[in-house]
Amino acid sequence: MRLVTRPSLLRDYVRRARRSGETIGFVPTMGALHGGHVSLLNRARRENRRLAVSVFVNPLQFGPREDFERYPRNELQDLRICRWAGSDWLFMPAARAIYPPDFTTRVAAGPLGDVWEGAVRRGHFDGVLTVVLKLLQIVQPDTLYLGQKDAQQAALIAQMVRDFDLPVRVVVCPTVRERDGLALSSRNAYLGPDERRRARGIARALRAAKLLAARGLSDARRIVSETLRVLRTEAKPERIDYVALVDGKRFEPVKRLEGRSLLLVAVQIGGTRLIDNLWVLPGRRGR
Ligand code: PAJ
Repeated sequence: MRLVTRPSLLRDYVRRARRSGETIGFVPTMGALHGGHVSLLNRARRENRRLAVSVFVNPLQFGPREDFERYPRNELQDLRICRWAGSDWLFMPAARAIYPPDFTTRVAAGPLGDVWEGAVRRGHFDGVLTVVLKLLQIVQPDTLYLGQKDAQQAALIAQMVRDFDLPVRVVVCPTVRERDGLALSSRNAYLGPDERRRARGIARALRAAKLLAARGLSDARRIVSETLRVLRTEAKPERIDYVALVDGKRFEPVKRLEGRSLLLVAVQIGGTRLIDNLWVLPGRRGR
């Protein structure tokens, strides 16, 4: 595995591989790699001749009062994990290599960037799309691997790929969870023991609502209120940013569960913001 810091160098390596007819899979990350990231690496490794991984804590996607400064960084371990997972290139650029002083252009996420995560974290998705577009231009992979954990992010990136005719296939991989259901996340490292115990209530709330839907409950308001009820009793969050049942493409709220829909949750537990989601399917009696 090669550790690459210069964008031009990575582009050359990848270009050479592509000229020899090799397929390239790409997994962009912000590091502090965990089992969720590893599932993306494994899938990309299986499906491609070459695997590129980026570790870059993108300042553009953090708000002024967010956790950019204290976001977990563990470069040595990231390097080991990438090597162990069979990566060919680990791209770890310095901030100035991605955003030189004269960098000014931004990708505007459009309406899907203004709701849910985008409403709470203003400008967040513009920052995500800007860096992902840059990374895609540098790597030029055949396939991009993303996690369902960040469902809205994945939908926005897929939208950008369509809108800008980017020649890349997008694959969204299932959320990897701890044994008690908590979705793996680099930010879980912030949780103290009591907060960690409460955090499992997020997945429990999603599962409880999904179960009710499978048994025939199709009124979205009742599905959401059941999620809120379990969330409040089990996770006891300091703040609930949103709980919503939406369609999986435009993320518009659904009134009745008629097709596959996404149940979204964003809460704060202690000082830590956590998001999760689950696909919910209508049950027989609900149709
Ligand atoms: P990061 O949070 O490091 O996540 C990198 C990728 O791993 C994303 O596609 C995310 O959805 C996926 N992922 C995270 N937790 C997961 C889990 N438990 N199961 C499955 N996949 C999981 O998302 C970002 O970084 C950044 O916004 C980025 C796209 C790299 C742009 O800066």
